[in-house]
Amino acid sequence: MCGIVGYIGPQAAVPVVISGLRKLEYRGYDSAGIAKINPDSGKFEIQRAVGKLINLERKLSDADHAPHERLNVAMGHTRWATHGSVTERNAHPHVSMSGNIAIVQNGIVENFLELKHDLQAEGVVFTSETDTEVIVQLVEKFIHAGSDFEKAVHMALAQLRGSSAVVLLNLAEPGTMIAARLGNAGGVVVGLGDGEVLVASDVPGVLECTRKVLFLDSHEVVIAKVGDVKVRRLNGERVNKEVHTIAWDPVAAEKGEYRHFMQKEIFEQARAITDTIRGRVDFEQGKVLLEGMKAGPLPRKIFSIGMGTSSISTMIGKFMIENLARVPVEVDYASEFRYRDPLITPDDVVMGITQSGETADTLAAMQEGRDKKARVWAIVNAIGSQAQRVSDGNITMRSGPEISVASTKAFTTSVVDQYLLACWLAQQTQHGLPHTAISDLMHLPGLVSKMLEKNNIYDDLANIFHLREHFLYLGRGINYPVALEGALKMKEISYIHAEGYPAGEMKHGPIALIDENMPVVCICIRDNVYEKMVSQVEQVRARHGTVIAVATEGDTDIAKKADHVIYVPECPPLLSPVLTAIPMQRLAYHMALRRGCDVDQPRNLAKSVTVE
Ligand code: G6P
Repeated sequence: MCGIVGYIGPQAAVPVVISGLRKLEYRGYDSAGIAKINPDSGKFEIQRAVGKLINLERKLSDADHAPHERLNVAMGHTRWATHGSVTERNAHPHVSMSGNIAIVQNGIVENFLELKHDLQAEGVVFTSETDTEVIVQLVEKFIHAGSDFEKAVHMALAQLRGSSAVVLLNLAEPGTMIAARLGNAGGVVVGLGDGEVLVASDVPGVLECTRKVLFLDSHEVVIAKVGDVKVRRLNGERVNKEVHTIAWDPVAAEKGEYRHFMQKEIFEQARAITDTIRGRVDFEQGKVLLEGMKAGPLPRKIFSIGMGTSSISTMIGKFMIENLARVPVEVDYASEFRYRDPLITPDDVVMGITQSGETADTLAAMQEGRDKKARVWAIVNAIGSQAQRVSDGNITMRSGPEISVASTKAFTTSVVDQYLLACWLAQQTQHGLPHTAISDLMHLPGLVSKMLEKNNIYDDLANIFHLREHFLYLGRGINYPVALEGALKMKEISYIHAEGYPAGEMKHGPIALIDENMPVVCICIRDNVYEKMVSQVEQVRARHGTVIAVATEGDTDIAKKADHVIYVPECPPLLSPVLTAIPMQRLAYHMALRRGCDVDQPRNLAKSVTVE
């Protein structure tokens, strides 16, 4: 959940690290810190600050911005607190008692109290409340006992329980950076630049310097020096890692012409969906080709799991897969799945949907599938992420880096991926795939573009409703999950309490909430439940609620019943969530803007939740 960047090379290390951290700030942002080795004094220079990265930047000196001709080494961290309150003292980096070794960490050391007590009994004095400091003190202890830096790190890591990603520097070996990954708390990417080496918790953190990267797997340690990068398993065994070349353009991770990443990412959806479909559909033959999937027996059942927006995406995919391929799909929150002893058989598939590919609960649920001998599939955005690497088959979202904490383009592309999967599975059944399923897809990017056209209605609605404290979202069938997503987006970024409900359930409780202060967003496009949705609209109106309808273009009847209407172009119902999701995103965005909220970095949230 925290962001980590380390650098050794000819450039001024501090600005490189800060710039990498900026790309990762979405992962955590309650405090930040940086440690640089000063080649003249041979000592660490450490700066830490509570709050966003900008507070840390204000503390840097001119000397930090000039490269030293001998040695430029630094590492930094943005924190999302797990152990210890949000204070400068608890911000990373942390140093060992002698001040010779420094560490940054992402994750949790579960047995840190035990280890801390043992070290304290041996005379070690701690300066922070963090679990991280335990690791650096342990490394120092092993160095004092005669081990070299690398061996000491291995020995310290062997004592830890829980999952962590760490980076360490040692003044005795200033040209060496050691990083390690234990479990799934966070990724470690090693960037192999020209005469420079970087480590970061995610690809965007190194992209400004290099596109050549390697990814650490769990229980791997990298000993990184310029021109000499070695990876070993925790047991000491040498590992030969594949070097990947990342095609993402660094400017794609910048806001460009947009005010917020969320806004930019909403508007990238037509491009992202085109990329997702491109090369995977033979429109002439009416066939889907999924490069990351191996043909095999049709699953008896698919358990589709995720968290947050990705979990809502699974609910939409269930409709697509059951409808087109007639394969049963059971959906669950990843955090609940593995604790209920799910009835998985080896004929089943457990499929994780995850933008980051690093969400701890989702990875653990996929592992549950693996343990029960099922096939494991993943729908992921982050290339090289753990979810992608541990799966037997995967489909990438191809939405490019998603920086805004509130997910938008990864949601719609994951829905499209599931549609592609449904088609791919249907092709393998006796009933086959209806040709229209493919031709419908061809029109989708164009329809999405229409949803992204300039439309003052979102501004108008935000002006009218920005002071309301509650919102209700209603939908049915495949658009019920979209109601959930609408409510989630509203909560996440505008801090308005919002609930999504299957419209038929309204009479059984939520109707009691409706009065003239309650805006109700009703998704009532022309599909098989249209009439029923219209009757819900009438019921809300009868109780003086205000209706914002999301309806099909040309539906003039609804305009007589609802207070406000957002139109979506006519489209096949199975693909309609890709379109109806967009007004949910745009409405939440404009409400957050009008309320003066921090759209891209909403309070208390993190982009990728790598702890349970
Ligand atoms: C966090 C993010 C959400 C995201 C969820 C799952 O809560 O704030 O936007 O939907 O994690 O993340 P994943 O990377 O697994 O899709």
